[in-house]
Amino acid sequence: MAVEIVLPPELRPSDGRFGSGPSKVRNEAVAALAAAAPQYLGTSHRRETVRSVVRRARTGLAALFALPDGYEVLLGNGGTTAFWDAAAFGLIERHSQHLSFGEFSSKFAAVVQGAPHLDAPEVIESPAGTHPEARPDDGVDAYALTHNETSTGVAMEVRRPEGADGLVLVDATSGAGGLRVDATQFDAYYFAPQKCFAGDGGLWLACCSPRAIERTERLGASDRWLPPSLSLPIALENSRLDQTYNTPALATLFLLAHQVEWMLEQGGLEWAASRCDRSAEILYGWAEASSFATPFVAKPGERSHVSATVDFAEHVDAAAVAATLRANDIVDTEPYRKLGRNQLRIALYPAIEPDDVATLTRAVEYVVDALASG
Ligand SMILES: Cc1ncc(COP(=O)(O)O)c(C=O)c1O
Repeated sequence: MAVEIVLPPELRPSDGRFGSGPSKVRNEAVAALAAAAPQYLGTSHRRETVRSVVRRARTGLAALFALPDGYEVLLGNGGTTAFWDAAAFGLIERHSQHLSFGEFSSKFAAVVQGAPHLDAPEVIESPAGTHPEARPDDGVDAYALTHNETSTGVAMEVRRPEGADGLVLVDATSGAGGLRVDATQFDAYYFAPQKCFAGDGGLWLACCSPRAIERTERLGASDRWLPPSLSLPIALENSRLDQTYNTPALATLFLLAHQVEWMLEQGGLEWAASRCDRSAEILYGWAEASSFATPFVAKPGERSHVSATVDFAEHVDAAAVAATLRANDIVDTEPYRKLGRNQLRIALYPAIEPDDVATLTRAVEYVVDALASG
């Protein structure tokens, strides 16, 4: 039985959370929240105590991503999934082009397909484990890219399609804060804090260019119906006041601000991305040298450095490995449920120690050997 395999102490990472989201929250951030709690939790989100935390998160993100003048950080409730709906109302004028290469990128395309006020989107697909390229087209007013497709472990460079005039909207839910990005290449770079920002879910954040803000204001002033909770002009107005339109989860905001400031203190995005590079090198290097594991993504340049997927040979049952790891407090290494592969998916976000990734690879080897001989 898998549960009977007990990992020796030297094969236990200092922290066993390797899930791709919700993901590891740093203990230091939780301790800081606990210390701040008596004056912070349970206080009004429209007062300075909470608004100063929102301000720290917004200014910290602007610094982290080196946002050019005129770019603004918007936020609202509902996570990335709600932002897709908000974008369908407030950022896509009529016709969008979507790169669809996994569960999340296909979901945004489906939102737009169902929106009665928009034209049918152009959807460019590629098989799981790869990503397609955008096709510049004068008729497209918004390109929907995904920095990191968390369901498959494929990352793509954020780049404006050559000569394209449409807005570039990037789902960076799991990529933001762990992958390098040049802000001049996007108009909206949106994400949620439960991945690289080591917070909790339920919030969306979007770094928006002046063109994106202009689009949002123009569509807001048109006769298009905008449900208030999904209205980007309302979100903009509130974000400028360092608050959300309706009540947010205060702990999430605190953890986000703490993580952003931690990243900035350590050296900013370049530091964070380099740390993810190191973890990725450890993990993929191990898989390539292993007799039973292989990186799922064939092209090294497309392999995610924030959420890695590793296929196992048929004779090794990845589900049994993940279950054994879980019984030893190493959690959430299971693959994305709908991908249906014999693989492990391992988060490499900045909060995760590269040394813990190395220990994890040794733990996997140990478990595979023990399962084979058991
Ligand atoms: C790339 C990507 N997009 C969107 C989402 C959905 O985010 P949320 O759960 O905040 O709505 C996720 C969540 O895992 C994701 O990884």
